[in-house]
Amino acid sequence: MRVLVIGSGAREHALLLALSKDPQVTGLVIAPGNAGTARLAEQRNVDITNADEVVALARDVSADLVVIGPEVPLVLGVADAVRAAGLVCFGPSKAAARIEGSKAFAKEIMAAAGVRTARSEIVDNPARLDEALDRFGPPAGDPAWVVKDDHLAAGKGVVVTPDREAARSHAAGLLDTGHPVLLESFLDGPEVSLFCVVDGETVVPLLPAQDFKRVGEGDTGPNTGGMGAYAPLPWLPDDVYREVVSQIVEPVAAEMVRQSSPFSGLLYVGLAITAKGPAVVEFNCRFGDPETQAVLALLESPLGQLLYAAGAGKLAEFGELRWRDGAAVTVVVAAENYPGRPRVGDTVIGSEASGVLHAGTARRDDGAIVSSGGRVLSVVGTGADLVEARAQAYDILRSIKLAGSHFRTDIAQRAAEGKISV
Ligand code: GLY
Repeated sequence: MRVLVIGSGAREHALLLALSKDPQVTGLVIAPGNAGTARLAEQRNVDITNADEVVALARDVSADLVVIGPEVPLVLGVADAVRAAGLVCFGPSKAAARIEGSKAFAKEIMAAAGVRTARSEIVDNPARLDEALDRFGPPAGDPAWVVKDDHLAAGKGVVVTPDREAARSHAAGLLDTGHPVLLESFLDGPEVSLFCVVDGETVVPLLPAQDFKRVGEGDTGPNTGGMGAYAPLPWLPDDVYREVVSQIVEPVAAEMVRQSSPFSGLLYVGLAITAKGPAVVEFNCRFGDPETQAVLALLESPLGQLLYAAGAGKLAEFGELRWRDGAAVTVVVAAENYPGRPRVGDTVIGSEASGVLHAGTARRDDGAIVSSGGRVLSVVGTGADLVEARAQAYDILRSIKLAGSHFRTDIAQRAAEGKISV
């Protein structure tokens, strides 16, 4: 099986690595990729948001399966074009990708499926902002305001704050640029990212993971695309995991079929485990980054065959997934100034070590690997438990040199110390 992967992050590097271990995968191509993925796959450069270019590439490289990593091409309907060309695609249709692309659609599906989620309101008129803010945050008895960009914002459009002025200023800034704002009630409790391979009403859940969205130690500072992750979650009871699958994911998948927008691909459920039980923070229509880097490090089942089965409408025949024992921890190395405008073009040393996945990297004409984006590398450690996996990840990190870069030193620490409970 020849597989074309679309994307250029560490998530796509992790997908390629797992695909390369599947005995049925005979060829890998990536577009556009990065300096790390070039070691595993033929690298091609197309505009991944242009459906015609992606289809032409898939035909040119004789792809048996196209795997679309990022949300933007999915929301634009690239998977529909790939399927219309008669090819097998892992990734939802434009209609189904609205579960991520349109917060209003996601809320509608959740309401129809009876799924617990935050109370919310869309504000698109700046004159209505102040009265809407009064219905959320401390005036409404919530500890904080949750203000989200209603457009795709690579994880950086969310501000959670007890400071009304900060909430107001973020919302006003979004409205100024023409983006509607979503105000939500605050969901209190540890967060879980659960990835499910979905094919219509068939749901195959992966290991649960947790990611770290804030840039600073102890969950401080602005939101990022993700600074680290770990899997599985030793503190998440099995019955809560099963409840999420049977009371949230399966009803949502069934509702999407009922509404004639069946989901086929990876449904990412972001949850908070509140005192009243699990509640949905968000849905995404693709693998999460950086959780994928940790989750796939533990997968033993053949990934190419799994994704092909989902894309071909045969997921129900695939059976249960197999996982290796133990834990995995991913730590993201970010460029100076990230999540602001990152400094790029610096030499990266040590990025060829095992366990290092590339994101914002490029190869210079002289052969050196240089930074080319905000999140530069994902370092993955594995071990018998989170303590060992953390130790391995931070050990690898010691050999990486990138001027001005930063990473969090507390990824998975509280979980490893048994300090998270539900
Ligand atoms: N880890 C957050 C995301 O992928 O959206």
